[in-house]
Amino acid sequence: MKTILTVIGARPQFVKAAVLSRLIRHKYSKEFKEILVHTGQHYDKNMSDIFFKEMEIPEPDYNLNIGSGSHGMMTGKMLEAIEGLLLEHRPDYLLVYGDTNSTLAGALAASKLHIPVIHVEAGLRSFNMHMPEEQNRIVADHLSTHLLCPTETAISNLKKEGLTKGVENIGDIMLDASLFYRKKLEHSMSFLPEEIRNMDDFFLITLHRAENTDDKERLTSIVSALNSLEAYTGVLPLHPRTKKMLSKWGLYFKDHIKVIAPVGYLDMIRLESSCNFILTDSGGVQKEAYFFGKPCITMRNQTEWVETIEAGCNILTGADQNKILSAINNFSKQKFEYPSLYGKGDTGERILKLLL
Ligand code: UD1
Ligand code: UDP
Repeated sequence: MKTILTVIGARPQFVKAAVLSRLIRHKYSKEFKEILVHTGQHYDKNMSDIFFKEMEIPEPDYNLNIGSGSHGMMTGKMLEAIEGLLLEHRPDYLLVYGDTNSTLAGALAASKLHIPVIHVEAGLRSFNMHMPEEQNRIVADHLSTHLLCPTETAISNLKKEGLTKGVENIGDIMLDASLFYRKKLEHSMSFLPEEIRNMDDFFLITLHRAENTDDKERLTSIVSALNSLEAYTGVLPLHPRTKKMLSKWGLYFKDHIKVIAPVGYLDMIRLESSCNFILTDSGGVQKEAYFFGKPCITMRNQTEWVETIEAGCNILTGADQNKILSAINNFSKQKFEYPSLYGKGDTGERILKLLL
């Protein structure tokens, strides 16, 4: 029996952990034991609890309750607390997902103690070192012993940095989640406001990346673009970071942009599957747009998910008002092919078989 200590803390990590934690507990319980550690980076009910309940993610064994703060403070507190747990439990592996501050803290704490680090979603690069995510993922990759990549591009990114040992293409674990939970939609409750639950002619918006929200000029440009689209209806589940920054700068959306609180994963995939197209700056949502066969307009200057751009169904606009408007008026109306790019939806199984 091998013990895996998994560190999660932010919304996209709950989605990814849901897949592996279920498999470990239901199918591989003789081979693996998981100690689940929630750093508390995300803590609002609709940023954390709802994912554990709806996706049946096991209750974390530890919640470090770190909460929000500056990067250094947050990462430092996590590092100290995770180190304590690693010394206490001495797991065979530490597992982290993606590129958040929780990922960085987990990988660093384990690496210093010579505990093998499994990085799921290794090898992604935006080549923009200003992004906290890029810093976190590069450091995590260089500290990891098992670099589990979602795509061949990720493998080749790692090769250019001299990383070839322990590198595997295992597909994208978010595809497993999307395939598993879409089957649950019919028999699950929706918490969407009535008006939105029955809507069928709208586009979905998510906006939370620091490069957009914390830059007044970029955020103003995005808000102006959306406000000028009165012939369209947009639905925007608003991340708390964005809510804070909109209020700081006195920015508002007009009524055709329906701003709602962040939603749980099931309502999110309900919206993704029923919208006309998606406008986002999220990493995960770009891929989900692909999984659901929806054109995606990405409000960033670079993306790690370059295959979706090459496939033609994702377009980068940055925060440029004119580019956003032109993409919505033209690109979003086109029909695209969505060939399989991210594996078969068996990434969770592949990770555990690989470790065995
Ligand atoms: C983090 C990740 C980002 C990821 C995102 C997923 C880092 C550096 N960034 O960004 O890569 O895309 O999660 O959503 O790790 N807040 C609340 N309630 C919460 C959580 C956050 O009010 O439950 C507010 C706080 O004001 C906080 C701000 O949101 O300061 C930002 O939260 P933080 O976890 O620092 O970064 P995210 O923007 O969520
Ligand atoms: N998501 C959600 N509710 C929301 C917004 C996003 O369930 O209101 C899900 C989304 O479907 C995806 C994940 O959260 O699975 C993506 O997380 P996010 O966009 O916060 O982070 P990123 O992927 O950019 O790191």
